[in-house]
Amino acid sequence: MAERLTEEIKAEIKRLVDEINYHNYRYYVLDSPVISDEDYDRLLKRLKELEERYNYILPDSPTQRIGAPPLEKFEKVRHKEPMLSLDNAFNEEDLREFDRRVKRFLGITEDVQYTVEPKYDGLAIELSYVKGLLQKASTRGDGYEGEDVTQNIKTIKSIPLRIEGTDIPEEIDIRGEVYMNIDEFERLNKEREKSGEPLFANPRNAAAGSVRQLDPSITQKRKLHLACYGVGAIKGKEFKSQIEFIEWLREKRFPVPAIVKTAKDIQEVIDIIKEMEALREKWPFETDGAVIKVNDFSLQKALGVKTREPRWAIAYKFPAHQATTKILDIRASVGRTGVLTPYAIFEPVRIGGVTVTRSTLHNWDEMERKDIRIGDTVLVERAGDVIPHVVMVIKEKRTGREKSFPVPEKCPECGSKVVKEPEEVAVRCINMNCPAQVQERIIHFASRAAMNIEGLGEKTVELLYSNGLIKSFIDIYKLKKEDLLKLPRFADKSAQNLIEAIEASKKTTLGRFLFAIGILHVGEYVAKLLARSFKNLEDLYHIKKEKLMEIPQIGEKIARSIYEFFNNPENIKTLETMKKMGLRITNPDYTQRAEKRPLDGLTFVITGTLPKPRKEIEDLIESLGGHVSSSVSKSTDYLIAGEEPGSKLEKARTLGVKIISYEEFLKLTS
Ligand code: IVH
Repeated sequence: MAERLTEEIKAEIKRLVDEINYHNYRYYVLDSPVISDEDYDRLLKRLKELEERYNYILPDSPTQRIGAPPLEKFEKVRHKEPMLSLDNAFNEEDLREFDRRVKRFLGITEDVQYTVEPKYDGLAIELSYVKGLLQKASTRGDGYEGEDVTQNIKTIKSIPLRIEGTDIPEEIDIRGEVYMNIDEFERLNKEREKSGEPLFANPRNAAAGSVRQLDPSITQKRKLHLACYGVGAIKGKEFKSQIEFIEWLREKRFPVPAIVKTAKDIQEVIDIIKEMEALREKWPFETDGAVIKVNDFSLQKALGVKTREPRWAIAYKFPAHQATTKILDIRASVGRTGVLTPYAIFEPVRIGGVTVTRSTLHNWDEMERKDIRIGDTVLVERAGDVIPHVVMVIKEKRTGREKSFPVPEKCPECGSKVVKEPEEVAVRCINMNCPAQVQERIIHFASRAAMNIEGLGEKTVELLYSNGLIKSFIDIYKLKKEDLLKLPRFADKSAQNLIEAIEASKKTTLGRFLFAIGILHVGEYVAKLLARSFKNLEDLYHIKKEKLMEIPQIGEKIARSIYEFFNNPENIKTLETMKKMGLRITNPDYTQRAEKRPLDGLTFVITGTLPKPRKEIEDLIESLGGHVSSSVSKSTDYLIAGEEPGSKLEKARTLGVKIISYEEFLKLTS
């Protein structure tokens, strides 16, 4: 039961309503609050209490913005004055033609004053106020009849529920654009993506979708804004000009466009538009142009309407940021660090004055997330200086013939097998000699902390590469003084110096060399750790990940990368050729190893029948630091020969490899 309502209570309720409405205005229209959130909540709580206790609710109470039940459908609303659309101008000449038309129609030669406002990209609505109170909010619809979205529009806190002050028309229909800021649009789309809902293509669709919600509680959750720019039917007041009207709106606490400027003639209009085009990128909302209006309302009236567009206004369209096109193909490119990147080839499309024919698809995770396929129609965006990107797939355009583009198994540049680490997004080609990467890799190889080849810096590598003198690592050692002398930057002395520096670099340490060959995740420190644990480069050729991970500082990720590098046949071939060309690697770090295991760095080959299963012996060798190979070579240290040995025995004899029995092997292990 409501308690007895006194004049004091009424006054307190009125005071609370006014105060909260004022704070809403400070916060949502001016963007400069003068109260803390806690204090605001306290006021609102007090108001709600009083309203409930006395069952006395003012029509402009902020509590009336929320809590309306969902609708079955929207009621139709007829606009007293039709909501018109605008003719478009795309360039300066179109604007000058508009100006000439205006003057011709008015039969004048003097300059006409205009206003220039941003064209908000949202949804047009009409707010109907009677005696200062918001009665109805409706969408534009077909211009004559729209839908009643009052409950939804009331949730937008920047919209006054009551017009304050004295100077108030009997009735007034105020028009404006409901829009969503770009950051809110992105937040909303992220949220929708998480819950598997379809994404909005742009802030305009998001704003329109949010206003046309049957359940106001959903609209309430979306941060919508309003910019008021026009007047429809009006009774009991007259405005002389657009600028006077905007000033009145501002005074009455309505949100108005970010900029409303007056221009004394069409030239000034053009200048203002140019300024706006630059500002556009900085605004938190999306604009697709500027609206130019004859400022004087009596001139507007004289000009009137031509079918559905007023003769007194025109929309200047900024170059579009987005367009739709078709993906003709998807391919992969290889960057200088070996990372493969998928990219789309488009049916050429003009966006913002530039023809766009391709765009990166960033990586396969991103491509899968957006479900981009060959043959898809996509929305492409090119904002400002930003490189074009695919915003989304227009799924409605799918025919079923679209093809996805899986991660390639081989590098598109060199054909080498690519690798993808499970927890990483990147797909990589790790072939040292991959043409897409070799320049970058050689620069690193020659650098001071690596092979320290003085004179083989970035510029020189570029020069040698572009002249076809180094296409691979091996070519470094094939360089001849005569070749260098043919190039512009080399004189006798500098050519001689470089050849000598290359020659000197052939004598190196394993630590330096492992760093130099550019294994992913192997910096100087890890290279040194490896050199401490492994005597020879070849010990790493068949290394197992588990073995690498026995080194305390080496984890799964580094181990996998090292394993994959040496598991790549092209890399082994390159390393072996380098050795043949005179590379001499010593390993002074190896002796510094703290706890040595008996078989560290030794390579074994097994032949014949032994007292223990082969697997058990292999495991024992590995666990003691040794390595088991399947065939005898010069780098084999021991052949363990059991009963009925095979051809390996013969081979070991010819190569001079030590042949031991199982018993002798056991002695080595202790
Ligand atoms: S004036 C008769 N001013 O653009 C003129 N419209 O293409 C009525 N719009 O339906 C509109 N910003 O939704 C005007 N500052 C602005 C505007 C604006 C956005 C929209 C409005 C209108 C459409 C016309």
